[in-house]
Amino acid sequence: MPAKFIIRGGRPLCGSVTIGGAKNSALPIVTAAALASEGESILDNVPNNSDIQHLCMILRELGCELEWVEETSLRVRAVDLANHVAPYNIARKLRGSTYVMGLLLARLGKGEVACPGGCEIGARPVDFHLKGFKALGADVVVEHGAMVCGGAKLQGGRFYVDRASVGTTVNMMITASLTPGTTILENAACEPEIVDLANYVNGMGGRVRGAGTNVVRIEGVDKMRGCCHEVIPDRIEAGTYLMMAASSGGDVKIDNIIPEHLSTLLSKLREAGQEVVEEMDAVRIKAGRPVRSADVETQVHPGFPTDLQSPWVALMGISDGIAVVQETIFENRFGFVNELIRLGANIKVDRNTAIVRGVERYTGAPVEAKDIRGGAALITAGLAAEGVTEVGGLQYIDRGYHRMEDKLTALGADIRRVEAKENNV
Ligand code: UD1
Repeated sequence: MPAKFIIRGGRPLCGSVTIGGAKNSALPIVTAAALASEGESILDNVPNNSDIQHLCMILRELGCELEWVEETSLRVRAVDLANHVAPYNIARKLRGSTYVMGLLLARLGKGEVACPGGCEIGARPVDFHLKGFKALGADVVVEHGAMVCGGAKLQGGRFYVDRASVGTTVNMMITASLTPGTTILENAACEPEIVDLANYVNGMGGRVRGAGTNVVRIEGVDKMRGCCHEVIPDRIEAGTYLMMAASSGGDVKIDNIIPEHLSTLLSKLREAGQEVVEEMDAVRIKAGRPVRSADVETQVHPGFPTDLQSPWVALMGISDGIAVVQETIFENRFGFVNELIRLGANIKVDRNTAIVRGVERYTGAPVEAKDIRGGAALITAGLAAEGVTEVGGLQYIDRGYHRMEDKLTALGADIRRVEAKENNV
């Protein structure tokens, strides 16, 4: 049986917590490090979570050298990248493995990568990515569960990114950086992680302009050289701890963040009656009671992030009214709601909308995480609940939150991880 958390709820979180590097920035940046055929990169503030570990395993199979020089500092050298096949048994485990195809096309002109896995929050196809590779002149087929790309010599071109997809924007930036000519991405994603990637690629000698706007222009260069880069703080991890602080009735300072990356959530927390004070690179939240109900609709950046929708629903579950939460990015992102109902929530889901009627309190029960952020929502509720909540499915939570139990314990929570062998409670 996999590991689970045992949480004795009802203790307000207090103190300060330091946020790690952004998983969704580190995945593209660690991949892009292998664009450099000269030198090496030292990447700082890389979260050592299971998604990053799996990506490192894939890149090593391709011939890259990756070594942790400190707990969150990764040295990457990709001079000898030669293998164009990413192994199925690892690649299928994470969505971010799609970026490996962009890398292989850029460096070797061909690649074979298993269709990606990741969390079950919708169909999550890769058709936009493949359309993008085709726009640069690649032959693309999907066969035997893998994307197989290669063929003709690539050439920069104009490409409209459907639905302002984050992953497609990343992949096109990675591929186009070493593709001759100019590539123009229209309707590109504007997330902070895109800007972080562009800054790093430019540091390696790439030419990316306009990142953070809807139009990104990439001029392909002949080669790149590794450099040092510090990954931006994880706005989703930070947002999760903010909501945990609010739900538990605590007083927490969230350190090492860029508050501007969280502006929509901070506004919504204020609307929900929470006291939020922004500093240069920190935010302090003092929980307010009652939690006021506030509607949310997920949007691309700078709108409310879909990755914070689940813990928001958990917070609204103990609000003083009715909150309408609409999910517009992924079609199946309310899978955690049934588990939240086991903790006493009163929520009705109709297609992409959750009607959350606040209850006075959650009561602890055994629940199962089915994706990273849904798991975070169950912990948010468990911390506020009366009694004991057991949260299973930690393999999902570990993908996005490094040492969550240590951080929560330091904030005064009563939470412990029960590993497989003692796990027969
Ligand atoms: C990334 C993040 C994820 C976040 C999401 C939206 C990573 C590793 N993951 O996911 O945490 O929730 O952005 O901010 O960075 N789509 C297609 N075809 C495609 C690609 C996407 O139909 O080829 C659809 C998706 O199913 C989804 C929408 O487009 O409905 C947006 O997805 P996208 O922005 O690409 O998300 P990811 O990059 O997968």
